[in-house]
Amino acid sequence: MRQPLLITDPKDLPKGDVALVPTMGALHEGHLSLVREARRHASHVVVSIFVNPTQFAPGEDYEQYPRTLEADVEKLSQVGADVVFAPSARTMYPSKTQVTIDPGPLAEILEGASRPTHFAGVCQIVAKLFNMVRPTVAVFGQKDAQQLAIIRHMVTDLSYPIEIICAPIVREENGLALSSRNTYLNQDERAQAVMLSRALFEGAKSDTPAQQVAITSQILQEAGIEPEYVEVVTTDGFDVLSEESKPVMQDVTLLVAARIGSTRLIDNVTIRRQ
Ligand code: PAJ
Repeated sequence: MRQPLLITDPKDLPKGDVALVPTMGALHEGHLSLVREARRHASHVVVSIFVNPTQFAPGEDYEQYPRTLEADVEKLSQVGADVVFAPSARTMYPSKTQVTIDPGPLAEILEGASRPTHFAGVCQIVAKLFNMVRPTVAVFGQKDAQQLAIIRHMVTDLSYPIEIICAPIVREENGLALSSRNTYLNQDERAQAVMLSRALFEGAKSDTPAQQVAITSQILQEAGIEPEYVEVVTTDGFDVLSEESKPVMQDVTLLVAARIGSTRLIDNVTIRRQ
């Protein structure tokens, strides 16, 4: 396939029927699967690459976050992206921000409990990208399930005329969910990180949310992992269900966040209603 056009100026973005895949770069197969999905929905595919400072809190890994633009563009040439939009921080944040987006109550639980400013930063940058790129469709990964749920609310509540598509989690053969942050892990930490998906898959075999949480937590504990949270939510509404000791008559998502060494990882699995 051909080399995508690399642009930094929003004026050069394509007009018309566009699918957007927002990313922070350091691309892996997970991101590339989103691009393949985007191809199916529009005639132009724009992939944005921008490490967004406002979604990192002081002390998080903003400076350390891998920046690999050249390799990213090369990977995108294999999957048929038309345009790579890699704006500067000055383009995205030309002046000190005054008008912001309140991502609402969903941004206060789970990921939001330990990263209280994170989703406001995500909504701010995604809204800006939507306004610049004006896509008809945008593709997000199930890997960041809470982010996806909040973006869906933003699109509804602020009336963005954009269809949001969810792409499934891409994993290594051993189950580890692909993440740009996996590059921080050493060999021992990688072996431990694999236990996150193992625990989720085992937990998902139970019938009730309470059991799903209990089994997942127990396996993590046996592996020496102290999770930040293990939680079950409704897949559609993200309603918290972990205390529920009866089977639930809708799809649910079992979520985990844990620190492996100093690297914070998240993963989840959707349990379909039988
Ligand atoms: P980033 O972490 O780069 O992820 C970009 C997109 O790739 C997200 O929609 C994420 O859910 C998806 N993704 C990551 N790993 C995946 C995997 N293993 N399988 C499938 N999809 C995966 O998420 C962000 O960037 C940022 O918050 C962003 C939305 C770009 C705003 O800055």
